Amino acid sequence: MEKVVLAYSGGLDTSCCIRWIKEKYGLDVICFSAFIGEVPDAKKLNQKALKSGAKKCYVYDLKKELAQEYILPSLFAHARYEGKYMLATSIGRPLIAKKLVEVAHKEGAKYVAHGCTGKGNDQVRIEVGVRTLDPKLKIIAPLKEWEFKSREEEIDYAVKHKIPIDVTKKSPYSIDKNIWGVAIEAGMLEDPWVEPPEDAYVFTKNISKTPDKPKYIEVEFSKGVPVKLNGQALPLVDLIESLNILAGRYGIGRVDMIENRLVGIKSREIYEAPAATVLMAAHEEIESMVFDRDFLHYKRLLSEKYAELVYNGLWFSPLKDALDAFFMHHQARVTGKVRVRLDKGTMAIVGRCAKKSLYKEKLATYSKDDEFDHTAANGFIKLWGLPYEGSR
Ligand code: ARG
Repeated sequence: MEKVVLAYSGGLDTSCCIRWIKEKYGLDVICFSAFIGEVPDAKKLNQKALKSGAKKCYVYDLKKELAQEYILPSLFAHARYEGKYMLATSIGRPLIAKKLVEVAHKEGAKYVAHGCTGKGNDQVRIEVGVRTLDPKLKIIAPLKEWEFKSREEEIDYAVKHKIPIDVTKKSPYSIDKNIWGVAIEAGMLEDPWVEPPEDAYVFTKNISKTPDKPKYIEVEFSKGVPVKLNGQALPLVDLIESLNILAGRYGIGRVDMIENRLVGIKSREIYEAPAATVLMAAHEEIESMVFDRDFLHYKRLLSEKYAELVYNGLWFSPLKDALDAFFMHHQARVTGKVRVRLDKGTMAIVGRCAKKSLYKEKLATYSKDDEFDHTAANGFIKLWGLPYEGSR
């Protein structure tokens, strides 16, 4: 029998996908599960997939790969979609697409499948990713074609076919999580006027539950890479995970926004990205010390473009690669330390130092130690304003 490799999460949708694809397409289903956020019980997940009708289930720990190949470039790029969203889900999907293709090749499968709906950005990221990497693979997206109109109908189908499903009450929200952040949507959040209830949040504490006293932390970067947290050297994944807990405890990194999806609709999204929020602000701060004005201002334009490309599913594209090269080019200079105060849902950079700092106190000072040549300003202003003299 021909094979299909399905991106499997163990949830209701992808569990039903296994059986549904077998029936509809007559294919052997190989599941592939990536963990990039919470670590699932691989053995249980495997059993669940097999019980649902899969032939095999691969469970890969991809956190390290996510951190090195996807988070770091996004951090160097200061990538935030529409200035706010840290792109956690958007960078997880191309990695999943890449692995789907790899497993398909390993298994000699001609098909891949996923559990995304036809309304979101995730389908685009996965399908464009797969087609970029191997256009010969055929893609099956059951949720875009099956007959089920509601979750209840899916549950009926699961019960009828003895597909194991969780009996625990499902969260009313759609949640997607990895170590760079959580995306929460649907349920009552669909009303943009309604304030997100506390139970919608996963990573962060409500301000009323955060500690009374502020906390000072230090993040150290070496060549752009965060390497130490409070003086302790940590591997990147551990550093991000620790910082998620630490900054999450102070309620840092919540975003509530109306976002423009690629498919044309506006959606109300809640995000939590405690570590990403701190690390990006800290990284930007070091850059502000070591780069000149032109570089910094120009980079902002490119950051916006980069975020847009990534959000729109074009991770594996020439422009994105070229922008990565641009952002990477001077990271060797980005070595230094940032002191951050976490307090009641806000973070503030309160101190910064960098090995290659361009900041010169002798020039900036208003004290008697001032070495700035004030007389030079006259000639400068004269010429700077020359083109406009008397023009109004
Ligand atoms: N709107 C965000 C994005 O497009 C988050 C999507 C979350 N996905 C999910 N399946 N809940 O990146």
